[in-house]
Amino acid sequence: MSSTVILGTGSYAPERILTNDDLAHTVETSDEWIRTRTGIRERRIAAPGESTSDMAVHAARRALVDAGVNPAEIDLLIVATITPDLPMPACACLVQAKLGVPSTAACFDLNAACSGFVFALDTAAAMIGSGRYRRALIIGAEKLSAIVDWQDRTTCVLFGDGAGAAVLAPSPGAGRGFIGAQLGTLGESADLLFIPRGGSSAPSTAESIAARDHCIRMKGKEVFKLAVRAMDDAAREILEHHHVRPDQIALVIPHQANLRIIEAISEYLELPMDRFFVNVDRYGNTSAASIPLALDEARRAGRIRPGDLTLLVSFGAGLTYGSALVRW
Ligand code: UT7
Repeated sequence: MSSTVILGTGSYAPERILTNDDLAHTVETSDEWIRTRTGIRERRIAAPGESTSDMAVHAARRALVDAGVNPAEIDLLIVATITPDLPMPACACLVQAKLGVPSTAACFDLNAACSGFVFALDTAAAMIGSGRYRRALIIGAEKLSAIVDWQDRTTCVLFGDGAGAAVLAPSPGAGRGFIGAQLGTLGESADLLFIPRGGSSAPSTAESIAARDHCIRMKGKEVFKLAVRAMDDAAREILEHHHVRPDQIALVIPHQANLRIIEAISEYLELPMDRFFVNVDRYGNTSAASIPLALDEARRAGRIRPGDLTLLVSFGAGLTYGSALVRW
């Protein structure tokens, strides 16, 4: 197995900003409640007609430029998303056509919710490691504004839209790039965070749509507890497996769901908050886009230097969780 390096990253956030005060005009909430319970101040909302694939393409183009790679070189394209433009075909096929990725490329979607990017990274690294793929484009992109129940204050204040991408290639030498990942799934808790209707077991009806059962439903408190435990376990396991101490991590890129979850992980790992990249205040929870958006912002802000060891750690619907170690 050859190892994998990240050649470049890119991200995109739609222009429109929805603040906590804006939300307080439509549901019974307040800037104070949202900030103190979640750390979120504002989130981005896609323009009318702007799709998940459009956002994915913006992020991908920036990652390709950063990597110095042409779309024609891509032979593997994975879009991690729970909000594909259409139920069928995969969002990755639409992204392929818009970017001009060749027909010989394998293009598919991956649904691991907020853990989607970490799952896509491990999948792409394994496929590159097999020697059969040479240039992978992995994207996390979400238009969660399309599946949020805007009348449910317990969820609508949490989510936002955006995209992030990375270009991967076989590593020219040892010691740099993707080191490993630790993925996990708690399928017995699937009903804590799900969309009740609109799938094949319960197609939407006029009544279910009126009841907004095609939107996200979440038992927030239960998810919060499992998120903290699973992210802490995933982080610990990968560090132990690769004989890395927490203080050797230059920067953690956690899933951006709630600042209090990130603070709890910081406490459990005994790693100060200045080693955690946080942008949940500006974007809210963008599910599969959250980690690649944060990763790209961290790189562009100079928070990741050559030789740095970074830890990605995620948790989401499924319930899924995962961690990955990358040396830059
Ligand atoms: O990315 C996938 C993973 N998802 C997550 O990680 C989300 C995990 N969960 C959370 O982040 C938190 O549980 C929430 C932010 C969703 C909720 O925070 P909480 O501290 O667990 O609050 P809670 O659900 O226990 O609600 C406390 C109170 C309730 O009122 P009562 O029953 O105490 O009278 C809620 O009705 O706050 C009320 N509440 C709100 N009040 C104002 C719930 N949502 C709101 C709101 N504005 N938006």
